[in-house]
Amino acid sequence: FADPAFSASVIAWQKRHGRHALPWQNTRDAYRIWLSEIMLQQTQVTAVIPYYLRFLQRFPDVQALEAAPSEDVMAHWSGLGYYTRARNLHRCARVVVEQHGGQFPADPEVLAQLPGIGRSTAAAIAAFAYGARAAILDGNVKRVFARVFGIDGYPGEKKVENALWLRAEALLPEEDIESYTQGLMDLGATICTRGRPACERCPLASRCIAFQTGRTAELPVRKPK
Ligand code: ADE
Repeated sequence: FADPAFSASVIAWQKRHGRHALPWQNTRDAYRIWLSEIMLQQTQVTAVIPYYLRFLQRFPDVQALEAAPSEDVMAHWSGLGYYTRARNLHRCARVVVEQHGGQFPADPEVLAQLPGIGRSTAAAIAAFAYGARAAILDGNVKRVFARVFGIDGYPGEKKVENALWLRAEALLPEEDIESYTQGLMDLGATICTRGRPACERCPLASRCIAFQTGRTAELPVRKPK
């Protein structure tokens, strides 16, 4: 599945049309990147931004977060929803301080063992904070891949998910992993949306199986009942 033209298209599009001024961009601070990725797991960018900025004011680094009372952490999360994320966030801060000397690990496999950090989030943190060559596969990216490659199974099914991970790994560029990773996220969030994708502005349309065969409404396949 190696295909350098794929990542080259994503990277070129990201540099010209992607998002470059989100509050968690233009930093290599793993704490800030981690916090953003956890908040963004189940919440949209526009909702996250004010919470993210307030949270960082109150807890500027992992030591401040680790030392804070749980009620204080929960109060700063209140309104974002999915509160397991906040409990795991606090637990993760404790592990990073107590077992990693206050430094987030650079290895995605080590990151993925921390509370609240799954495989895709680990890869995003490692790529943005450390430039690690690691593959992401969140819901948005699954949709992009399912459409571009015309993948006909439900992505929540293990077999299909494994196939998507193999694709994601094989497509990784040799360089500029940050632009590539952000580009996939931005394409999924702003162009390759679930309803009414903006295919006329998509850099992958010429090679997108779903677009070429008029099946963007059918892919990715919905959860079978
Ligand atoms: N969703 C998940 N991670 C993101 C990021 N770094 N930027 C924008 N949206 C995201």
